[in-house]
Amino acid sequence: MTHDRTLSPQDQPGDGLDAALRIKRLQELHGQDQVRNNLEILIAAARQRGESLDHILLYGPPGLGKTTIAHIVANEMEVNLKVTAGPAIERAGDLAAILTNLRKGDILFIDEIHRLGRAVEEILYPAMEDFALDIIIGKGPSARNIRLKLPRFTVVGATTRLALMTAPLRARFGAVLRFDFYAVAALEQIVQRAATLTHTPITAEGVSEIARCARGTPRVALRLFRRVRDFAQVRADGEITVSVARAALALLEIDSLGLDSLDRLVLAAIISKFGGGPVGLETIAASVSEEPDTIMDVVEPYLLQLGFLERTPRGRTATPHAYAHLGLPLPDAPAEQPTLFDG
Ligand SMILES: Nc1ncnc2c1ncn2[C@@H]1O[C@H](COP(=O)(O)OP(=O)(O)OP(=O)(O)O)[C@@H](O)[C@H]1O
Ligand SMILES: [Mg+2]
Repeated sequence: MTHDRTLSPQDQPGDGLDAALRIKRLQELHGQDQVRNNLEILIAAARQRGESLDHILLYGPPGLGKTTIAHIVANEMEVNLKVTAGPAIERAGDLAAILTNLRKGDILFIDEIHRLGRAVEEILYPAMEDFALDIIIGKGPSARNIRLKLPRFTVVGATTRLALMTAPLRARFGAVLRFDFYAVAALEQIVQRAATLTHTPITAEGVSEIARCARGTPRVALRLFRRVRDFAQVRADGEITVSVARAALALLEIDSLGLDSLDRLVLAAIISKFGGGPVGLETIAASVSEEPDTIMDVVEPYLLQLGFLERTPRGRTATPHAYAHLGLPLPDAPAEQPTLFDG
């Protein structure tokens, strides 16, 4: 089983909150200034020229807003958005069917684009570059190659693993935008907005406490907000104060830096089972009974960002900061070799 901390279904709970909290315009997007500024220019320029948008690749850790941005871009361009994902397009014919159904200006959002198969990618290259679809009709000596013209459309691709994308596919994107973890101030605005839209009383310190523990990730901020709100309603008078937030987060086993039990388990495993590292990703994953992908996509990026983990060619190493955070003693420094003679 994978740890579900950032899986999208978490964003669709039965309380209807998700639809209410979804952002629809670029101006509503707090944080991620680099991405927003670049998109504003791309969109304004395309609109002024009456052209379709250049292909856009969005990459970064889960939960930072890649899917959200794809929807916002379609909204701002006032075009249709067709959503698919790398693993969903199994055969070249599947992609051909999608492409021939696109209309001029449409956006084709391909999530997990690094998981497209080779044969599918080969169809995508001329489609993105020349807006053409090469198909072979018939078999054997009578087979004919024909080229269909496609309307000018835009691919918005999203991936958590830029490194797994092939170079030719990457090269076909006119804009490549990286998502970074959000600053606490931006997460505070996101939590405050959620509280306002849901009419939840919350103090400024309550907002900060949730934002600080959100691992730089809006998806986590919104999920923590929901849980703390439940806690405030059931165990307090409904208002999210700093003490209510702290008590709720403690119950969720979220610590002062926003690390949860899996984060701490991974660090503790590296330190106590593997002497602090270096240790390979697969080994770490096996020792905590998790998927390597979850460790790599969800756990590692934030631990690297905090400076708790280092990636070396031989594997992952826990840094002294990680020992300090877990309250574990640093391993003994190698004893100094006694020198036999001076000078
Ligand atoms: N800047 C933001 N402001 C407010 N809410 C946001 C922001 N970015 C993301 N969210 C919210 O966080 C949640 C996760 O965002 P989204 O699904 O777009 O992330 P993602 O990058 O596509 O993640 P994944 O890689 O897992 O697909 C959604 O509920 C979305 O509404
Ligand atoms: Mg997504």
